[in-house]
Amino acid sequence: MADDQKKSGNSIFRDGLFTDKVIVVTGGGTGIGLAIAEELTQLGAKVAIASRKMSRLMTAAQGLSHDYNTDVFPVVCDIRKRESIEAMFDAVVEHFGPVDFVVSNGGGQFASPAESISESGWKAVIDTNLNGNWNLYKVAAEKGMYDRGGRIVTIVADFWRGFPLMAHTGASRAGVENLTKTLAVEWAHHKIKLNCVAPGSIVSTGFHNYPPGLMDDTWKLNPSMRFGTCEEIAAAVLFLLSPMADFITGETIKVDGGSNLWGDAWPVPEPKEKPEVNIPPWPEDRWPQFAPKEDES
Ligand SMILES: NC(=O)c1ccc[n+]([C@@H]2O[C@H](COP(=O)([O-])OP(=O)(O)OC[C@H]3O[C@@H](n4cnc5c(N)ncnc54)[C@H](OP(=O)(O)O)[C@@H]3O)[C@@H](O)[C@H]2O)c1
Repeated sequence: MADDQKKSGNSIFRDGLFTDKVIVVTGGGTGIGLAIAEELTQLGAKVAIASRKMSRLMTAAQGLSHDYNTDVFPVVCDIRKRESIEAMFDAVVEHFGPVDFVVSNGGGQFASPAESISESGWKAVIDTNLNGNWNLYKVAAEKGMYDRGGRIVTIVADFWRGFPLMAHTGASRAGVENLTKTLAVEWAHHKIKLNCVAPGSIVSTGFHNYPPGLMDDTWKLNPSMRFGTCEEIAAAVLFLLSPMADFITGETIKVDGGSNLWGDAWPVPEPKEKPEVNIPPWPEDRWPQFAPKEDES
């Protein structure tokens, strides 16, 4: 992508759509979160990017601020720790003013058959991907959204047919999706809207976190037969933050090339013996004595 193309609008959304909206993007320094932060920045938002590693956040924030001639704010935050989220919100409010929207994208997991997931590994992923979102929603609400309303869009995953090789993340993302439905109802009177975006296999910096080669063939696990892009996830998130999505809450948009319908990462081994095929007989074959004679039928 040419540099000037990048700065002058490759978004399908209109220029200035998010002007002066204060938006926190967790995990906004890398991958999908960075693509979301970039498009929001391009459309005029005041974007804060928040995660654990300040060095990476700084680089991304300086890069975006330079490219779009604006001020992207990096803040350290570990979503597993409530006090860390509270400090992050305080810093953003002090820097930009009250937070309008939150994109909850920060998270992570590791690949392992359930048989080999340890108790601590299970707890670490649940703590990040389930408890982390609970913490984030509560703090966002308490630090302003209960009074001013707001929107929260959460990145989940393609867990619709279970999540072989990532049982922990499947369980936590399904929990989060259900939590957003509950809060979409309970918090509707606060004018808080919560929705999710469920990505399939998206080529991103997240691939560095897996053993080399593990993700290489995941493009084959959807009927579209390709990887998705970070920009395709960003487009769905921005739609849910846009005024045209004001009547949508408690909903999830799947951006997965159809992987929720077809494509399996876990080959189920065939049994050694072929099952017998015993098709049940028609009633007239089972009870011929009661079957009508041909001329009575
Ligand atoms: N790529 C895919 O195919 C795919 C598919 C489904 C779902 N997802 C989900 O989409 C999100 C973005 O993933 P990605 O592919 O862009 O990978 P990524 O580059 O690894 O992004 C994950 C981000 O989450 C942040 N993060 C991790 N733990 C955190 C914590 N405890 N507190 C705050 N921030 C934390 C990381 O920053 P720090 O290390 O600085 O904390 C990082 O910026 C993740 O939740 C991922 O699980 C990705």
